[in-house]
Amino acid sequence: MENNAKQEEEKGEVVVNPWEVSSTTGKIDYDKLIDKFGCQRLEETLIQRVERLTSQPPHVFLRRGVFFAHRDFNEILDAYERGEKFYLYTGRGPSSEALHLGHLVPFMFTKYLQDTFKVPLVIQLTDDEKCIWKNLSVEESQRLARENAKDIIACGFDITRTFIFSDFDFVGGAFYKNMVKVAKCVTVNKVVGIFGFTNEDIIAKISFPPVQAVPSFPSSFPHLFSGRDNLRCLIPCAIDQDPYFRMTRDVAPRLGYQKPALIESAFFPALQGETGKMSASDPNSAIYVTDSGKDIKNKVNKYAFSGGQDSIENHRKYGANLEVDIPVKYLSFFLEDDAEVEHIKKEYGAGRMLTGEVKKRLIEVLTEVVERHRRARAAVTEEMVDAFMAVRPMPNMFN
Ligand code: TYM
Ligand code: TRP
Repeated sequence: MENNAKQEEEKGEVVVNPWEVSSTTGKIDYDKLIDKFGCQRLEETLIQRVERLTSQPPHVFLRRGVFFAHRDFNEILDAYERGEKFYLYTGRGPSSEALHLGHLVPFMFTKYLQDTFKVPLVIQLTDDEKCIWKNLSVEESQRLARENAKDIIACGFDITRTFIFSDFDFVGGAFYKNMVKVAKCVTVNKVVGIFGFTNEDIIAKISFPPVQAVPSFPSSFPHLFSGRDNLRCLIPCAIDQDPYFRMTRDVAPRLGYQKPALIESAFFPALQGETGKMSASDPNSAIYVTDSGKDIKNKVNKYAFSGGQDSIENHRKYGANLEVDIPVKYLSFFLEDDAEVEHIKKEYGAGRMLTGEVKKRLIEVLTEVVERHRRARAAVTEEMVDAFMAVRPMPNMFN
């Protein structure tokens, strides 16, 4: 038993795909993941370039390395510098009633990209995907998609440049033609290699990947991009979605299409520690945007894995292990003040600050994020959902 675990640990087994994120070494090695997936590291020089091009400080998620990998993001910036626009594509698989804080990461970042680059955005709600994988009925998946759309709208997207669609409602026409074109380029061997499907899997799973692939092509949205077949696409997401887009980028040239570019984030970790991502399937691992201040306080105090020492004496003597400390990790995502984050790291790392104090600050920060979201969500009406999801031209989407 012990030997086995040890062997696995030595192998440094990391599993990251759209369905599972885990690591036997107790930590996800993101550098290894970059090599394994063949994406590029988001270098400091590229972040400085974003700062120059946008004339504003880069988003916290860039400054702190939350978004750490990319594919051809430099080409998007080259094009932007030449005065060419692009569009953004991201999505959500509506598997739960409410989003958790991890889901907010790509959406908050996408909003920043939309506001700074002034570009259109398409958001795919894969209600079909969740119906297939989570054994939800068609109707229940559709209902969850609409509920999730409200949380997404609450992130503040600009209605003059944002189109949200559910697969069950929108797939057809030009979108479906692209799906068939993609499907004709991908063998069963290939999807098995990328996604690990087995002979016992239902065929619905095998036929799904083209649905997530084709929003990467402007011709899938004739009401938005007709006559703009060369418009480039940039996809912000967490790195678990990379397999879909490896497949997409592989087939694109064969269809005469541009490969989508990607900008990829690390996972907002589970409360229990960095071995996994915050996941909706385990309620005690996650803080939801619907949690009350009291829920947040309880969860942080009870479950947030601490790098502090076991006694005050030892803590004062050795300081906290910041590498594994969840409160510090969470603060580095959501506390925007760089100076305060540095101060906490220094004091806590030296043992002058105690876990309780750091958790207290974290509870304040998270409660504020969740409260702000709750207020915005309460202001989203059914009419607004209809308006964001209407198939319509967006004449001012590039202005
Ligand atoms: P879903 O609903 O599992 O996740 C939605 C988005 O949130 C990211 N994410 C996280 N980011 C940081 N920390 C976490 N703990 C965390 N958990 C989830 C996901 O990477 C994703 O960006 N199949 C997709 C839906 C989809 C999509 C897309 C996503 C369709 N088209 C294009 C990105 C881009 C899904 O089920 O995501
Ligand atoms: N892994 C995610 C979760 O467990 C959601 C998920 C299930 C998923 N099936 C998927 C994501 C297929 C992408 C593709 O919450």
